[in-house]
Amino acid sequence: TIDVDTAGAGAKIDDTMYGVFYEDINRAADGGLYAELVQNRSFEYEPADNRNYTPLTSWDTKGAAKVVNDGGRLHERNRNYLSLAAGSSVTNSGYNTGIAVEKGKRYDFSVWARTDRAGGAPLTLTLHDASGELAAARRVTARGGWAKYKASFTATRTSTAGRLTVASGADAALDMISLFPRDTYKGRENGLRKDLAEKIAALEPGFLRFPGGCLVNTGSHEAYDEKSGWQRKRSYQWKDTIGPVEQRATNSNFWGYNQSYGLGYYEYFQFAEDTGAMPLPVVPALVTGCGQNKATDDPALLKRHIQDTLDLIEFANGPVSSEWGKKRARMGHPKPFGLTHLAVGNEENLPEEFFARFKEFRAAIEAKYPEITVISNSGPDDSGSTFDKAWQLNRDANVAMVDEHYYNSPQWFLENNDRYDSYDRRGPEVFLGEYASQGNTFGNALSEAAFMTGLERNADVVKLASYAPLLANEDYVQWKPNMIWFDNDQSWGSANYETQKLFMRNVGDEVVPSKASGTPATSGPITGAVGLSTWATSAAYDDVSVTGADGEPLFSDDFSAGDGRWTKAAGKGTWTVEDGAYVQSDETVENTLVTAGDKGWQNYDLKVKATKKSG
Ligand code: AHR
Repeated sequence: TIDVDTAGAGAKIDDTMYGVFYEDINRAADGGLYAELVQNRSFEYEPADNRNYTPLTSWDTKGAAKVVNDGGRLHERNRNYLSLAAGSSVTNSGYNTGIAVEKGKRYDFSVWARTDRAGGAPLTLTLHDASGELAAARRVTARGGWAKYKASFTATRTSTAGRLTVASGADAALDMISLFPRDTYKGRENGLRKDLAEKIAALEPGFLRFPGGCLVNTGSHEAYDEKSGWQRKRSYQWKDTIGPVEQRATNSNFWGYNQSYGLGYYEYFQFAEDTGAMPLPVVPALVTGCGQNKATDDPALLKRHIQDTLDLIEFANGPVSSEWGKKRARMGHPKPFGLTHLAVGNEENLPEEFFARFKEFRAAIEAKYPEITVISNSGPDDSGSTFDKAWQLNRDANVAMVDEHYYNSPQWFLENNDRYDSYDRRGPEVFLGEYASQGNTFGNALSEAAFMTGLERNADVVKLASYAPLLANEDYVQWKPNMIWFDNDQSWGSANYETQKLFMRNVGDEVVPSKASGTPATSGPITGAVGLSTWATSAAYDDVSVTGADGEPLFSDDFSAGDGRWTKAAGKGTWTVEDGAYVQSDETVENTLVTAGDKGWQNYDLKVKATKKSG
């Protein structure tokens, strides 16, 4: 029974309550949301990024082709380039199984090249797979010093295993060999992969937290050094990621791969605007987290990072006459992006050290931009002494909002619906910046949905919440579960994605107080349609029955605590099976096996094989 107090006043729910947390993890950017199809386009991969890398990773060479790092480079931040002798070629294999192209679609090629040959260097460009050409070959002729050359292909076949070959008729230097689909999200140049961006946009996210996570506050906090060149494994420093793409230094990130920064701060702000989400950047606090636990004690470096953060606000919001506002305008967005919230730090495990630095960031930001909400965090845990200490420091410092993160079992999510009922309303507001139950099953999604009703009930104190992580390329996985999965041509939302979509697209205005009674919490029969997972614990349930889509009992049996195995060979009725096919009433279900252990709540997949008896 649900009693609804229609006259009662519950918490107001902000439109921004549910958002997304984007991190470049699981190749979410290069090979993912960033639509570039060529992998290692600027030959910057190094063993320092990942010991399996070389500057020619994902390239095959024919003839005399080598990567050079000398004063003839394209830019001080783009150190390596390719030297290709007359009659030689290089072929790129893209990500996953290769470059994915679709028949009839346009693909834009570009390359930076220079040659000292008087007649220029004719470059032949081909898009092909093992079965032959995927588009008519194109030709451009490079002449003189570094310049950008463009061509476009129209695919004559569809393939997910394409290759791009560049062959030169004369000695030439090449860099930034690039291929983009014309059809990017909102048709933007240097844009985003449409299916992925559309899946994110379909959530109607209230905010976009970016660019990480552990990606932000790990590694060296030093700046890229243009004199010595390599300064790899740097924390995410936003200034590295803006301006012309050929002038953006690459970096190797915490998750073990090279990131091109082609998808950088300007593109994130643009994406937030395109999806109607409030932008919410995270900057490093100079205390590394994510197991690194090191506080950088360098006042000059801290000052520089604080200044960078002030410059970031100017980049987002400043007038075109300001230094950083002008750079934004030059990149194509004279209008401010309307930044209102910014987080300093992520999961620092050293609360005292973090707070000393956080307070300096906050003081500088508040002095210049008092309208900006500066978000702190509570470390990596959802409870315990570090968590308590961090919260105490946050309260003592009158912090406006605290970022909490947790990844727990579905059981934890079911049991902690009331987590925020007792949070002190006088203290900081909560930004639940990362959470997920451990899995991508229907049961996980259900436990998150149950938990989210608790977030919503406490919308007066929980102001923002985002599932994490958002994206995963199935061939380059560092973290599971994830909300949206993809390969080089397809993407699919998890059950958890559907939960998020349900909540994000249906944000209420205010909570109507209600009470439920008679809710079967830990006893009673489980019912569910075949193909969905149901939850069972042998200790709590004696009678288990599974009903078909039409309400007919499909099968039922007793199993007692400790028994641990439940088998039932057959049942009759009309029901929907796992693959969505419809089974007629005179068909039999066979081979049904459910195993219930004694480990408390577990997820059981009902494996059903339907055999046709007749007809
Ligand atoms: O979401 C994956 C990781 O989990 C994030 O990078 C980090 O903040 C957390 O530990």
